[in-house]
Amino acid sequence: MISLFLILNILLIPKPVSFTPADGVCSIEKVVVRKDRRPFRKAVAELEPWQRQEAYRLTIQRDRVKIEALTEEGVFRARKSLEQMLALGEVPCGIVFDYPRLRHRGLMIDESRSFKGLAFLKKQVDALALLKMNVLHLHLDDSAGWRIESEACPELTAKTAWRIGRTYHEWEAGKYRFTTEDDPEGYGGCYSREELKELVEYAAERYVTVIPEIEMPGHSMEVGYACPEVLCQLPDGRRHTGAWDLCPGSETTFELLEAVLEEVMDIFPSPFIHIGGDEATMKTWSQCVNCQRRMEEEGYTEVKQLQGYLIRRIAAFVQNHGRRIIGWDEILETGVPKEAVVQSWRGISGGQKASAEGHEVIMSPNTHCYYNYYQDLIRKEPKAVGELVSLRFTYGYEPLSEGMDPTLLRGVQANLWTELIATPEHAEYMLYPRLFALAETAWTPASAKEYKGFRKRARALLDVFRNLEYNTFDMDTESDLARSGLQRFPPEGVPIPIDD
Ligand code: ACM
Ligand code: ZN
Repeated sequence: MISLFLILNILLIPKPVSFTPADGVCSIEKVVVRKDRRPFRKAVAELEPWQRQEAYRLTIQRDRVKIEALTEEGVFRARKSLEQMLALGEVPCGIVFDYPRLRHRGLMIDESRSFKGLAFLKKQVDALALLKMNVLHLHLDDSAGWRIESEACPELTAKTAWRIGRTYHEWEAGKYRFTTEDDPEGYGGCYSREELKELVEYAAERYVTVIPEIEMPGHSMEVGYACPEVLCQLPDGRRHTGAWDLCPGSETTFELLEAVLEEVMDIFPSPFIHIGGDEATMKTWSQCVNCQRRMEEEGYTEVKQLQGYLIRRIAAFVQNHGRRIIGWDEILETGVPKEAVVQSWRGISGGQKASAEGHEVIMSPNTHCYYNYYQDLIRKEPKAVGELVSLRFTYGYEPLSEGMDPTLLRGVQANLWTELIATPEHAEYMLYPRLFALAETAWTPASAKEYKGFRKRARALLDVFRNLEYNTFDMDTESDLARSGLQRFPPEGVPIPIDD
């Protein structure tokens, strides 16, 4: 029996722009596709060109479905709606008219802290496609290991893709020891060029762009371990072994980064290349002969200007290759070209500042979009990070904040950092159903969002994900606190568990 809720609120995530119900359910004997025909062109004439690209109309009758769209991508989005309805049990008659709110609808997965492999990534691409998301951002390197094979510098993976310590914290407790692939005690792995090309192709067939991130100049202990020439140098010639940051004074650093980026751009056709830029400590730069020389040459008075130097030089290199950079919001602090897209992670202020300065913005504030944070009570959940980012709380996130230019809001993204997430199963547990909320925030008009209805749809879709063998959080066990949507902060200085 089809429920009244379903008839009035078609069971789709993300919720479509409009659904006009008609009597009955459809047995889908026939699907006809009408591409780029006049009635639909007229229906989408007012939309932005990138919205028109993905727009579709589904006319669902008892025995047949008509798909209208301008492009194959629009047809694909329509087919994903049908696939979701079929998986949920019934396809109600009516007309769905739909197009995205935001252009970048992303998920970042950290492959450095825990390496999860190609099958896992393809499975998450399937989920993204089903949720009408279109970006998989891969964090491919960090201090805990470099995960992409490089011909220019094979030492990067040979020396840092395997470590002693199954989890990030075991590795940290064991004093950051790397090992080699042939060590039976070693944990880790890396992606070959062929595997990544396969992923890019797999994702492109599903209208998902894979954006690679090569982190710099901070979060780069492993690069210095593999290739000590990129480390800062003391006046007596010794290197700053174990440093967190690359040396922006040395030309070797740029030679390495540019060689790697060329390889990366060859694998990933994405118009955007993420270059990190977050949390550089800049500690070794004031003691380094090469950094000091660079400062003198450039007339700098503060070491942090070296971060701006590195980011601008790499941005120009990437732009000369016909791509644009994305960087974490720190890149705003030391000067960056207008074309750079800024990804706001330290709350929303980076996004607001970036928009005020004319940059396009991707919003992924840690407060709402970090899915490595707790999704329920500390005592009930596997160890996680930070505050409570419950399903309801993350659903409530509105990426366009006061004063922000809506035309510069490129999109919204969830980030999954994996210091505490050692396995693919755990990663999925943290993503679903919260990624359903992100998908709806990214696609559905803000005015059409409403939590109660979403929760019902999410509960139904969660069963579909379970049938597809995703390991999900159990919504039926959600605590009252998580259900309330409150985000608890401990009072100043007092670590209070979120478990009353
Ligand atoms: C970040 O979470 N450090 C971007
Ligand atoms: Zn230096």
